[in-house]
Amino acid sequence: MRAASWPSFVTRLAGAAPAFMLATAILCGATPATNARADQRDAASQQNLDSRVEDLLIRLTTAEKIGQLNLVSRGEPIDNQLARVRSGEIGLMLNVVHPHEVKAFQEAARTSRLGIPLLMGLDAITVFRVAMPLPLALAATWNPPLIEAATEAVARETAANGINWTFAPMVDLSRDPRWGRVSEGGGEDPYLASAIAAARVKGYRKAGLATAVKHFVGYGAAEGGREYNAVALPVSELFDRYLPPFRAALDAGSETVMAAFNTLNGIPISADRRLLTTLLRERLGFRGFVTSDYNAIGELIHHGVAGDLAEATRKSLLAGIDVDLEGAAYERHLAGEIAAGRVPMSVVDEAVRRVLRVKIGVGLLDRPQPETPPPPPEAEVRAVAREASRQSLVLLKNTGDLLPIAASVRRIALIGAWAEGDYDLSWWGPAGLTRPETLPLRAALEQRLTPGQTLTFEKGYADTCGTMPGDVARAAATAADADLAIVAVALDCDLWGEAASRTDLGLSAPQRQLVEAVAATGRPVVLLVSTSRPVVLTAVEPLAAAILVVWHGGTEGRTAIAEALAGEISPSGKLPMTFPRSVGQLPLSYDALPTSRPTGADRFTSRYVDLDAAPLYPFGHGLSYAAFDYERIETSTSFLPAQDGKISVAVTLRNNGTRTADEVVQLYIRQRVASRSRPLRQLKGFERVRLDPTERRTVTFTLTSTDLGYHDDEGRLIVEPGSFEVFAGGSSAATLSTRFDLVGETVTMMR
Ligand code: BGC
Repeated sequence: MRAASWPSFVTRLAGAAPAFMLATAILCGATPATNARADQRDAASQQNLDSRVEDLLIRLTTAEKIGQLNLVSRGEPIDNQLARVRSGEIGLMLNVVHPHEVKAFQEAARTSRLGIPLLMGLDAITVFRVAMPLPLALAATWNPPLIEAATEAVARETAANGINWTFAPMVDLSRDPRWGRVSEGGGEDPYLASAIAAARVKGYRKAGLATAVKHFVGYGAAEGGREYNAVALPVSELFDRYLPPFRAALDAGSETVMAAFNTLNGIPISADRRLLTTLLRERLGFRGFVTSDYNAIGELIHHGVAGDLAEATRKSLLAGIDVDLEGAAYERHLAGEIAAGRVPMSVVDEAVRRVLRVKIGVGLLDRPQPETPPPPPEAEVRAVAREASRQSLVLLKNTGDLLPIAASVRRIALIGAWAEGDYDLSWWGPAGLTRPETLPLRAALEQRLTPGQTLTFEKGYADTCGTMPGDVARAAATAADADLAIVAVALDCDLWGEAASRTDLGLSAPQRQLVEAVAATGRPVVLLVSTSRPVVLTAVEPLAAAILVVWHGGTEGRTAIAEALAGEISPSGKLPMTFPRSVGQLPLSYDALPTSRPTGADRFTSRYVDLDAAPLYPFGHGLSYAAFDYERIETSTSFLPAQDGKISVAVTLRNNGTRTADEVVQLYIRQRVASRSRPLRQLKGFERVRLDPTERRTVTFTLTSTDLGYHDDEGRLIVEPGSFEVFAGGSSAATLSTRFDLVGETVTMMR
């Protein structure tokens, strides 16, 4: 295989990410959030905004107010919907994707009595036309500036069709790979997920889309990983793990929030005033509006907290759900509830104010025509997509430096129907749009063969998702005739995301049998794993010399894989979620609490009698074609005060390999002794760097005392003195460490 030089575009987005430290300005009731701080900076414009809102509000009839809270999906017939917009019954829409329809709906809104434009929402996640790698794959880049650029590109394509609001980012912490929506999030760790949440909100907003950070809160902790299931979370865990990504998204300016479907500690979130009002608004200082999830108001009846839709309407609005997403609840019952005196008009007014504030805030009322900026050039979007795909590739294993494929390897067998397909996740984008072409892996590899190298191909299984058996004997014979076999397998390519929970995370039987048959030829096996979530690879791992996780990489994904196999680039992604050995180990995360009997060889320790308790591959793991050695870790001081303290940690690493490559330097802490058990490790910093062979680099992280705290059962942040270990390395299993002390009195704050 031919090794080419790095494209110059790469240098702009790779290795340039500054260390992201969790925002210290955490939100609390007394000092409300970013939106409020921005208000202070610009009190005059805030006053102006408020008076514009009031001016509209006093002119709205009750029916029109209810219309401003009514979010309706594009349905048939369009003329009916246009008439309803004209009469003020609908204030927000979703799934209108074609520019001529967006225009027609906005014109209808302009001819309504007060001419208030519509918020036009869409699940613009990581695909509009060009498909980026799915969000979990983006998370594997550990590169927030690149994620911001990828998000902005998708958002610019979306905005070009007149859409002005996205139902994203999903920032639900995803710690259970059985849950299908782990594909849509930023992984299992609150620090990494917060960095990603902020980057994505910024990316969307740069392109002019308002965001709906979702799903507030705890949705990812569904019991058993089963979609829509109940969630039980201690308050301390809610604050330490599940809230930080929301805080980061709000700090980055998310205008709206989507509430989650589930119950949290027994109360359905769509009816939980403590969460939607006391926590989100009073404590976190959020001033935008909250939308329900799809028909979630009506589903309060299924949850068993409302006897009918009128009661569900009342409970949701009073709890703090401002907007009804496709539930037709407010539309049907709010007027009656107001008339009966069960819902005060002041509550309705406040919800309408929030919606109008967002509409005015994003400039909707200042534009004579709906804004449709030109779409970004496809080549530019593809370039970002390619770079994101490259950096998302995670090399789990590379025995004997089998990868990249050496020029001396003459006969390469490529096996697996997936490798011939061009499926690029397009179903996840809006329907009815033309999609750019995706080059299949087979073709991308053929382009990279050196003179004398050959590539033979066999399907091995019958369908591109690997669920139907194929001609395994033929595939094995093809492998036997080659010097090296690449076997492409896929999990989830047909069913993932919402409502795609799984109890089995292993490869399908046809794919397992294929890997076994190919490995039995004795040829070295490279396993390519396409997936939307962690896969249980325990059965096939010993059969492969090299394993590359390629996710669902989008439009440019397959070309990026070919580049990595050929050595044009080095894999540099790191796992954003633990890869377990078995579903029976779940839940399994690197930041677990210690147990009374740490896992050991002895029977009476925290272990399984039938399986190693450790993951197959830990959080943060990912190899490279270079060889990075972590040489030194040093703190700027041996102690810092619990009150307003700061410490720097300098980490030195060297590339002792022969190739230029990126490494994601990771920093973890552990407090050994405190008033409550502290996690075995917690990520507190990371930075992607690019090092040439023999190059040495020192990366400096800054930790503040509040970064070292934890929340108690009242949701207070406790910064407790004690000794801390700090670890640095290329995964959560990093071994290089030092210590420092946090000194003084315990500090307690509402953060
Ligand atoms: C999902 C949301 C999504 C909404 C609108 C719901 O089923 O849970 O995340 O934004 O549909 O499409």
